[in-house]
Amino acid sequence: MSLVIENLHVSAGESPILRGLDLTVKPGEVHAIMGPNGSGKSTLAHVLMGHPSYRITKGKITLDGKTINRLAPERRAKLGLFLGFQYPIEIPGVSITAFLRASYNSLKKEKLTPIKLRRLVEEKARPLHIKADFIERPLNENFSGGEKKRNEILQMAVLEPAYAILDETDSGLDIDSLRTVAGGINALRSPRRTIVLITHYQRLLNFIKPDFVHIMLAGQIVRSGTFALAKNLEKTGYAGIKAKK
Ligand SMILES: Nc1ncnc2c1ncn2[C@@H]1O[C@H](COP(=O)(O)OP(=O)(O)O)[C@@H](O)[C@H]1O
Ligand SMILES: [Mg+2]
Repeated sequence: MSLVIENLHVSAGESPILRGLDLTVKPGEVHAIMGPNGSGKSTLAHVLMGHPSYRITKGKITLDGKTINRLAPERRAKLGLFLGFQYPIEIPGVSITAFLRASYNSLKKEKLTPIKLRRLVEEKARPLHIKADFIERPLNENFSGGEKKRNEILQMAVLEPAYAILDETDSGLDIDSLRTVAGGINALRSPRRTIVLITHYQRLLNFIKPDFVHIMLAGQIVRSGTFALAKNLEKTGYAGIKAKK
C-alpha cells in the first residue's frame, strides 16, 4: 500500500508547476511536505486526487503498484485516496451526515443505514470536539476556519482512507484547534495507512511527529530528511535552500 511518485511533471495551461517530483511513502509512514507559498504543494495534492485543471506531462503516480495518472477522482477515492483540502468547498443544502453517508456508501462494500452512519459520525466527532447538532449543518456553509479543518479530519476518521493527503490542515487554527486537529490525525496513524501532511509552518509538526520531512521548492523536492530538517527550517527559513536546475 505505498504511494509512489516518479519524475512527476505537471502543468496548468501552458505553465509548468511541478518539475520532476519524486516521492515514496510506505504504509504506516507519515511524511511532511513543507515549502514556501507558490512552491506547488497544493498542486501536488490536487494532481494526486485527479483535479481536471492540471495536466501530467511526464512521470507517474502509483498506489500499491497501480498507475493512477488517468483515473477519475472517484476511482482514486475507491482505491483509498483521500484529500483534506486547504480551502474546503461549501455545499449548501447538503448536511455533513448526508455527505458522509453518500461518500461512505459509494466507497465501502458494506453500506450503512442512516441511523448506523449517524452513530458512526457521532462517535468519530466526539474526540474532535464536534457537537451532535453541528453534523446536521450544511457542509462548510458559514463554518469558521477551525470548524472546516476539524470537519476534514472528521471525514477522514469516518472514511478511514488508506492514503490521506492533508493540505494545510493547520492553517488558520488557534492553538486549541491545532491540538484537537493534530490529536485527530495522530489517532488515525496506523500501519495500514499512509499520511502526507502538507504544511507551510513547522508548528503542526510539534504535535504530529513525521517520519520524514521533505522540502519543496519550485515544483521539486529539493531536500529530504527527518524531523530535524523541519526544526532547522524554523531557524533558517526557506531562504537558505536552493532549487535544483
Ligand atoms: N489552476 C492553475 N492555473 C494556473 N496556475 C496555477 C494553477 N494552480 C496553481 N497555479 C500556480 O502554480 C504555483 C503553485 O501553486 P500552489 O500549488 O497553490 O502552491 P502552494 O500550495 O505551495 O502555495 C503558483 O505560482 C500558482 O499561481
Ligand atoms: Mg497551498
